Amino acid sequence: MEKGLFITFEGADGCGKTTQLILLAKALKAKGYDVVVTREPGAKGLGEKIREILLNYDGDVSSQAEVFLFLADRAQHIDVIVNPAVEKGKIVLCDRHTDSTVAYQGYGRGLDISRIKMLNDLATGGKKPDLTFVFDIDVETSMERVGSQKDRMESAGMEFFNRVRNGYLEIAKQEPQRVKVLDARKSIDDIHKQLLELLKFSINNF
Ligand code: TYD
Repeated sequence: MEKGLFITFEGADGCGKTTQLILLAKALKAKGYDVVVTREPGAKGLGEKIREILLNYDGDVSSQAEVFLFLADRAQHIDVIVNPAVEKGKIVLCDRHTDSTVAYQGYGRGLDISRIKMLNDLATGGKKPDLTFVFDIDVETSMERVGSQKDRMESAGMEFFNRVRNGYLEIAKQEPQRVKVLDARKSIDDIHKQLLELLKFSINNF
């Protein structure tokens, strides 16, 4: 591939997206593709410091401040990791990106969605994922999977996560070309097969 691909994995905590990301990375590498696996928040360097604050800081964090921390991480991540890799023809698989901010800080925390989209654009320089997978799951199951050791975000409560889930479904409705919803309660193998099918439409000769 001359120009690479930027694929993002989204969904509520405990939806199983990271497992699917790793499986897809393996499958792509086995076919000879050059794959970069990364995540937000906190891919490396500065991002790791920001992640530490976002997930573990135990003082007050205002919703606005939270947004800007995620965005600072994103701006660095896009400039230093994602864009250079895509320009070199690599396939970048990213665990969470702009849709997380719309779903969590917008729908979840109740901040203005159009402003968040504008701020996302500022942080990414307008770069959009070529393809996004949303792993949809009911809140009871996802919280059961997360278990009792919850980080700062995971402790936000059932109602918050219901809003996050609906937020993701709304995003998918608005951008059906880019965003594909998968049923995260299916077996790991079934979901993986479905991902591969969906990828065929994005990668020529895959
Ligand atoms: P992480 O441990 O990476 O969770 P997961 O394995 O579920 O991806 O923690 C990231 C947390 O940050 C997760 O609860 C979602 C949240 N988040 C936001 O609220 N907004 C954002 O923009 C991003 C990228 C993540």
